This record gives sequence, C-alpha cells and structure tokens, in this order.
Amino acid sequence: MAVDLKKLELNTPSFLYDGRVFKRSAEAVVSAARNAGCGLIYSMKPLTLYPMLQKIGYYVEGYSVSSVFEARLAEEVKTPAQTIHFTSPRLVENEITELLETCDYINMNSLSHWKRFRDAFAGKVQCGLRINPELSFVAEKKYDPCRTFSKLGTPLETVKIALEDEPGLFDGLDGIHIHSNSEADNFAQFRRTIEKIENHIPELLERCRWIGPGGGYLFDDPKNLEDFNTSIHRLRTDYDLDVFIEPGFTFVNRAGSLITSVIDIFDQNGKTVVVVDATVNHLPEVLEFEYEPDIAGYTKTGEYEYLINGCSCLAGDVFGEYRFMEPIDFGSRLQIENIGAYSLVKAHRFNGINLPDVWYLAENGELELMKRFTFEEYASCNGVIECLP
Ligand SMILES: Cc1ncc(COP(=O)(O)O)c(C=O)c1O
Repeated sequence: MAVDLKKLELNTPSFLYDGRVFKRSAEAVVSAARNAGCGLIYSMKPLTLYPMLQKIGYYVEGYSVSSVFEARLAEEVKTPAQTIHFTSPRLVENEITELLETCDYINMNSLSHWKRFRDAFAGKVQCGLRINPELSFVAEKKYDPCRTFSKLGTPLETVKIALEDEPGLFDGLDGIHIHSNSEADNFAQFRRTIEKIENHIPELLERCRWIGPGGGYLFDDPKNLEDFNTSIHRLRTDYDLDVFIEPGFTFVNRAGSLITSVIDIFDQNGKTVVVVDATVNHLPEVLEFEYEPDIAGYTKTGEYEYLINGCSCLAGDVFGEYRFMEPIDFGSRLQIENIGAYSLVKAHRFNGINLPDVWYLAENGELELMKRFTFEEYASCNGVIECLP
C-alpha cells in the first residue's frame, strides 16, 4: 500500500512495515485457520526480525523453523504455550541435542533420515515425515518443491511401498508434513494435494495423530476458501488428525516496502538512467528470480520512463524499467512495494553497502525504528574481533 512519503520522516534506504497492512494480512490468515478449524504457526523463513516476530507471535500457536538458529530465535520469542516445529533437509548429528532442547516437533525430510535419526528423536519429540505429493503447481522450477528429482520429502509411491513391505518402519512416527506450493491463492490446488495423499496412503493418515500441510498459500485475498475448509474438515473428521498450517509469506509480504532515494540521474544511449541509494542486494529475489518489483506510482501509460538501478558496482544491479506520470529527479523517493517477505533475510552487504534500516509504521501513524545495522556488526561479520566505537 502506497504511503505518503512526504509525511514520513524516514531516512533512506529503509524497509518499512506498514502496521495497518500487516494487521489485515495477519487477521485474514487467522480467520481462515479458525474457520477451517486448524492450528496456525508462522514459518520464520520470510522474516526473522525479532520485533516483527513479537508482533506475529500474537496471532500464532507456534513457529516453524528450518535451522537451529531459527529454532533458538523462536525459543527467545515464544510464550510457554507456543510450540516449535522443525522441517529441513539439513538435519545433522551434531545439532541433535540443540534441536531436542528447543523443538517440540521434528519433521524428517526423507525415509532415510527417519531410519538414521529415529532413535535420537522418537518418543522425545513429536516426529513427522515430510512427504512429497509430486503434484506441481509452480511454474518457476526454483520454487517448486514437487519438481522432478526433488529433495523435499518422500514421494507417495515410496511411502506406499514401504508401508506394504516394512510397516514397522513407521512405528514412532506421529505425523505427516507437506509443503508443496508457493504464493498460491488457488485452494483447489490445496484440495487436489490432500485428495492425492488420501488416495495413495490412507493407511498412513490413519496411523498418524497430526498433519502439517505447510505454507505456500496466500490468505490476504483468498479467491475461494471452500476447498481449503472442506479438505481440513475431512482430515480432522475422517482421519481424526490435528491439522496446523505454517504460512510465512502471506503474513508479511504486502506490509513491507523498501523506501529509496534517487542519488543520480543521466541519459545513457537514449534511456534515462536512475541510480537509487538501495541495491537489488537488498531484495535478492529480484536477481534470483528476475522479476521487476512493484513501485508505487508506476503506470504503464506514464509519460516519464526510467531505468532504475541499484547503487552497487554490479552492472546487473537493476530493478527494472518504469513509467511514471510525474518526473523524478535527484532526491525523489521511490517506494518499492510488496517485498516484506524473503528480502531482509536474504539481503547482504556486497560492496560494504549497509543494510537498510527497518521501520514499523504503527496504526496510530507513529514510526518505530525496529533495527539499524551498524558498522560494528559489519566489522564483526568480517572477523573483526574488537571494534572501537
Ligand atoms: C517447509 C516449509 N514450510 C513453510 C514455508 C513457508 O512458505 P510461504 O512463505 O510461501 O508461506 C516454506 C517455504 O519455503 C517451507 O519450505
């Protein structure tokens, strides 16, 4: 949502989380989970900034984590009643103790991990197996957990054969985990995924106590939650399963913007090149997935066209080509919108360019500085042991 940048006393570059939008997104997902009768935990991957975790914590029953660091952070922010759920292909011997100390649920990424780690975890925490429904809905292969030869979860057929040949293998498993989609608002895909699992391995659903159907769905503006509701209802009533979803993106993406200022502008081979004081390294998915992020005020029919570049030495540090109704100049501010998820967690300080400040715009209009990254942190990441203030 575009904010009135003239009214905000913000230095740039800054990430800005708009509290009104965040609240709407969080309430939308809470209401979807309540209506469907499932639990709700927050997948920490998209944003781990502590003050945001505290705000998100108000809405959820726990946290989904993918490493010991995320688990430790969840441990810091959680209330006694909230639970920590671990799912990751990275499960290693020397982190077992720490995982047992922090997590309530551990999902094995494969049957081979289950064989390897069963003795370490079974009976001590809730143990789950990640299964892969091999039903692809994501066009971009980099994002598709169900891509061919995927490492993410055991294929249904493999589970089915193991259930027939070696049923004892599943003793000690309490639940099933799935995460198979990305940024989807089509809940028919959710229904089809659950149906495929029901058709292939009903006996595993019957043996288990719970199922975690992952994240990957958008609840901000759901097209039709009927399929979501009926699928969850069936899992609960036909199989007597506890169900908890673990979305991440939908909580924070719309609320987050990157505010940046124009620091150079010139003509180059017939185009107007603009350089801003942020870089695509603050939004690495722009490079990773080659997309042009939304910029407030951009319009296809605008009279003024600019090639907007980040300020690092990388030639390809380019946000894209944008048209506006009004001209922009030195000092103009741009609001790059809908980037609240998977930006700060992936951002880096290439060239030594500092990470943006992170602000929260409360509903009463007050700005709260959530994080300012310092030279000392940069120096420490680079192995400086002691750094003079
Ligand atoms: C296992 C798991 N759960 C939850 C999520 C969160 O997905 P999203 O942020 O798209 O809702 C992810 C994202 O990759 C994931 O891998």
